Amino acid sequence: MSKNILIINGPNLNFLGRPEMSIYGKETLADLHSIIYQWITNAEWQARFFQNNSEGEIIDYIQNNFEWADGMVINPAAFSHTSIAIYDCIKSISLPSIEVHLSNIYHREEFRRISITGLACEKIIAGLGVQGYIEALEDLKKILK
Ligand code: DQA
Repeated sequence: MSKNILIINGPNLNFLGRPEMSIYGKETLADLHSIIYQWITNAEWQARFFQNNSEGEIIDYIQNNFEWADGMVINPAAFSHTSIAIYDCIKSISLPSIEVHLSNIYHREEFRRISITGLACEKIIAGLGVQGYIEALEDLKKILK
């Protein structure tokens, strides 16, 4: 059955693909969106894509779109490690949500090891690059069936 999915990316991920961002792989945000869009189209699902650098904008977008959605894939980027506000937002909508990190946050700086927002999600997938988003969609497929 068709499902509606929010794909949310947080701060600085609009810079994916730049040489300074090589820890996150070669793909740009547009590449990432098109890889996800292909999976979504094959599954005959729908997705809404959103990237923003501001915590409040991310929260507003989720609040304005969660009623349309059956699930969410979110990479809150640096806000993962700091944002009780995004944690509260995810908690308050009770939408099955998977958190994705392109890099392995557990093998980087100490301050990346805790994801506050991830505590509000079904699961955290980290270190698989773009494939992590596809794994998250596969997980949502199992959860939502
Ligand atoms: C990230 C990991 C975060 O620690 C970092 O701040 C990011 C990207 C990732 O996808 O690996 O911006 O979420």
